[in-house]
Amino acid sequence: MYSTSKKRFEKAKLVIPSGVTSPVRYFEPYPFFVKKADGCHMWDTRSRKLVDMCNGYGALLLGHRRREIMRAVIKQMKRGTIYCAPTAQETELACMISENFPSIDTVRFVNTGGEATMTAIRLARGYTKRDKILKFQGCYHGAHDAVLVEAGSGAAHYGIPTSDGIPEQSTTNTLVSEYNDYGGVEQLVRDNPDSIACAIIEPVMANMGLILPQDDFLQRLRKITRQHGILLIFDEVVTGFRVSSGGAQSHYNVRPDITTLGKALGNGFGIAAVGGDRKVMDLLAPGGPVYQASTFAGNPVATSAAIASMKVMGRLKEKMYTRLERLCTGLARIVGDIATDYGIPHRINSIASMMQIFFTDAGEVRDHRGALKADAARFQIMFKKLLEEGVFIAPSQFEVAFLSNAHEDHDIDMVAAAYDKGIKAVRDAR
Ligand SMILES: Cc1ncc(COP(=O)(O)O)c(C=O)c1O
Repeated sequence: MYSTSKKRFEKAKLVIPSGVTSPVRYFEPYPFFVKKADGCHMWDTRSRKLVDMCNGYGALLLGHRRREIMRAVIKQMKRGTIYCAPTAQETELACMISENFPSIDTVRFVNTGGEATMTAIRLARGYTKRDKILKFQGCYHGAHDAVLVEAGSGAAHYGIPTSDGIPEQSTTNTLVSEYNDYGGVEQLVRDNPDSIACAIIEPVMANMGLILPQDDFLQRLRKITRQHGILLIFDEVVTGFRVSSGGAQSHYNVRPDITTLGKALGNGFGIAAVGGDRKVMDLLAPGGPVYQASTFAGNPVATSAAIASMKVMGRLKEKMYTRLERLCTGLARIVGDIATDYGIPHRINSIASMMQIFFTDAGEVRDHRGALKADAARFQIMFKKLLEEGVFIAPSQFEVAFLSNAHEDHDIDMVAAAYDKGIKAVRDAR
């Protein structure tokens, strides 16, 4: 069916390791190659139309090629693409972010979520003068050394608990606790007095399938970190603008010290941000001793895309979030009913415009351990069938299905029908 993609993949493998530019883009036997995208659709190299439920792993909250963003980017490109000197747009965007996120006084722009979390951790270490960091099993914060320990996303998919090529010294200061296990956090804090700089967490875990915080876990984490002088970093690279316009921190009413944003911030353009309390952020160079820099950071094209995205999100606001939540909850319910009807044990977690099904009979999925009990082989069967039916979800149990504002009811009806076929294929494979 995808013979053109097969040929392109063979060629790619000669010059690109494993033929892909990021690990989860690969799936067996070879990924499809994309020609173009628009709204909630992508077209492969043979012009086959797919409903996109991957949405740039969450980046495309507003869908592909949102009109206002395209207009802003084209206008900016006519004025130049990179200056490496300040622009008024950077300040405008920082103000907009700060208005949406009351915990953020000032913002430093970077290019990727990974750069944002790396900077956030360095800032926390610089501020507290402590070395250790606390992360949570299954949370993914980018592909840099300190956090590539028991990470989710591709690292979980390929069973790489800690990547080769990372010196032991880079991870000995990384403490790992189970998500939603407050007792575990207490223990680690007790065992490491006055030496933990920060706790970094995805407030909603979206890299181990989808896992929601439970039993006031985030509130209690906030309390214990404050009591012990540990900075709390919310990695909202996925959840920022997606769970609500003020991210998961607004939804759960927890105020972190530092926040990282990415993905939906630029709605498809490479821009991310680290922001937080002024007294912490002021440590960044050149005013302070914590170094961070990048040639492309705050480039005017990505910045104008982010301003346009934020203007659209600001205009659509609650109407968009309410509509997306209705579509997503409805889809999750239908998918759950389908699995029940086919007699397939499962759990579904969903929030806002994100959902994931786990093929498991082990009950609720509330942590990394629970997610690992899910039958990833069944997920692959479902994924392939969905693709055959014209629906593209991320090709891993340890990712999430994302809706975008470009999806209409009839698109989600089509997605639900494809899930029906996908889960039937799971049943037939028994
Ligand atoms: C929660 C979270 N943080 C950080 C990152 C890293 O972002 P990037 O891929 O832009 O470096 C990701 C990427 O998926 C993510 O999901």
